[in-house]
Amino acid sequence: MCGIVGYIGCKEAVKVLLDGIKRLEYRGYDSSGMAFIQNGILHCEKAVGKIAELEKRLNGNNFHTSLGIVHTRWATHGAPTTENAHPHVDCNNEIAVVHNGIIENYDYLKSKLEQEGHIFKSETDTEVLAHLIEKYFHGDLETAVMEALREVEGTYGIAVISQKNPRKIVAARKGSPLMIGIGNQEYFITSDVSASLEHTRDVVYLDDNEIAILTPDRYETKTIQNIRTHKKVEEILWNLDMIEKGGYEHFMLKEIHEQPQSLRNVMRGRVESNNDSVRLGGLIHCEQDLRQARRIIIVACGTSWHAGLVGEYMLEEFARIPVEVEYASEFRYRNPVIEKDTIVIAISQSGETADTLAAIREARQKGAKILSICNVVGSTIAREADGGIYLHIGPEIGVASTKAFTAQIAVLYLFTSYMRSLRCPSSPLDSNMIKDIQSIPEKIQTILNMEEHIIELAKLYKDSEHTLYLGRGYNYPVALEGALKLKEISYIHAEGYPAAEMKHGPIALINKDMPVVFIATRDNVYGKILNNIEEVKSRKGKVIAIATEGDDQIAEKVNHVLYIPKTTDVLTPLLSVIPLQLLAYHMAVMRGCDVDKPRNLAKSVTVE
Ligand code: AGP
Repeated sequence: MCGIVGYIGCKEAVKVLLDGIKRLEYRGYDSSGMAFIQNGILHCEKAVGKIAELEKRLNGNNFHTSLGIVHTRWATHGAPTTENAHPHVDCNNEIAVVHNGIIENYDYLKSKLEQEGHIFKSETDTEVLAHLIEKYFHGDLETAVMEALREVEGTYGIAVISQKNPRKIVAARKGSPLMIGIGNQEYFITSDVSASLEHTRDVVYLDDNEIAILTPDRYETKTIQNIRTHKKVEEILWNLDMIEKGGYEHFMLKEIHEQPQSLRNVMRGRVESNNDSVRLGGLIHCEQDLRQARRIIIVACGTSWHAGLVGEYMLEEFARIPVEVEYASEFRYRNPVIEKDTIVIAISQSGETADTLAAIREARQKGAKILSICNVVGSTIAREADGGIYLHIGPEIGVASTKAFTAQIAVLYLFTSYMRSLRCPSSPLDSNMIKDIQSIPEKIQTILNMEEHIIELAKLYKDSEHTLYLGRGYNYPVALEGALKLKEISYIHAEGYPAAEMKHGPIALINKDMPVVFIATRDNVYGKILNNIEEVKSRKGKVIAIATEGDDQIAEKVNHVLYIPKTTDVLTPLLSVIPLQLLAYHMAVMRGCDVDKPRNLAKSVTVE
């Protein structure tokens, strides 16, 4: 949710920290702050709003330091004010803490500390950490941090510095992602590898209840029970270009246009055109479980949940296995029934979404086998799963997920084929299934090439207050996704529905000012969707149809039609979503919205 960077080394830390935290701004951007030690004194600078505000405050001051911590915030406790921005300090302004997560027992700890005379300056949960560490500080920062954390309930990724230990950063993790970047005579502590990628590709992932101690010449990891731990150094395969805009105005637009290539990356090394079998290396050791599985439960949130719905349709239709798709936040608290031979699949782009992580921990406790479909390599969900499939699409930085959605669907399609070959070897899938998906990247490019039409449509509807998205079958989840994209970046109220469901209520919303987007491709329910279009037209609704190229019939029935290339029903979501991504993007840009950092959102939701 929030972003943290710490640095100790030979470079000018203020610049390194600013550059690093800017790369994490998609994690939260309502306020920010930095603390560092110069000439043995702790300095703190904070600002409300984007990191550019903090940069303004820091520029012009001739700060020189080789160690510091910085934070960008997504507020959970206390409004985005300077007082509530991180870092938070102790009573003597000697210890500074930045935190990502939620301290659940902060109320209790705060009143105890106030009784002991500590003075609080903010409304945040985080500030209790600074005072708790102060309480236990007797000369050694890491001991004080370990003592303090033993009293804390909740989730945290923290970094701490103290002017009494001016050559040390102490960091700790429980629930929120945190990793050490290992450079040449320098070390980084970051919430996400992109903050240190410019300097190093070598990282160590901290596990829950672990702390790290960084000094100028070495790093050490321990449990908060003070037991040394030995960590594997992993190499990050991403490169800097991947986290740059590459000439696009927004990361979201870049990522929409990356989809032909990202889908090729999903298939590389997993499907060969000369044979119709699928190889999923991350599942080989789970094949027996997959063969005897009697039920699949997909757990996810947001866009990943929509991809899961498409996966449910695919797996039930082609692998003939019962599938349920669960909102992770509901699944984790409703005491779900998990029998033997239940496979739980977590879908998460970031691999750090707190509710999805908790859902798989709940399912594991109940005896389920856990698989993951993640994009971020080394993320917590991926590391905790028994097996998994990575998307291999490079970093997704735009808060509104686009290329991850199509990649998740493509992975679920390959997984369906894999399950079919495992469970019904005598009736393998029609070999065209593989050829069909290999032609998708080109077809997406065809849609991207008609962006001008979509821009014209966006101009017509950018001032709408409401929009309905309707689809059937494989296109129903796409209707949900189209509505989510418009909502989250343009702030227009939008809803997605199974088209037939409209008559049971939403049709009351239809009038001449209500644009209704129908995904009306020529599939096995085409006739039904034409009826639904008539129902909307007869109530003066404005109809935009996503239709299959060559379908002249539909053009006379709707106000606007966007044609997409023909493909199989099961693969249609990979094409029908593209015009919806572009429509939402251009409407949001025309409304002057900050498309990459929509208000109130964050890329990775690491708190409940
Ligand atoms: C989608 O555009 C949103 N950013 C959000 O709904 C997202 O899909 C959700 O938070 C799940 O994230 P994950 O895939 O990283 O778990």
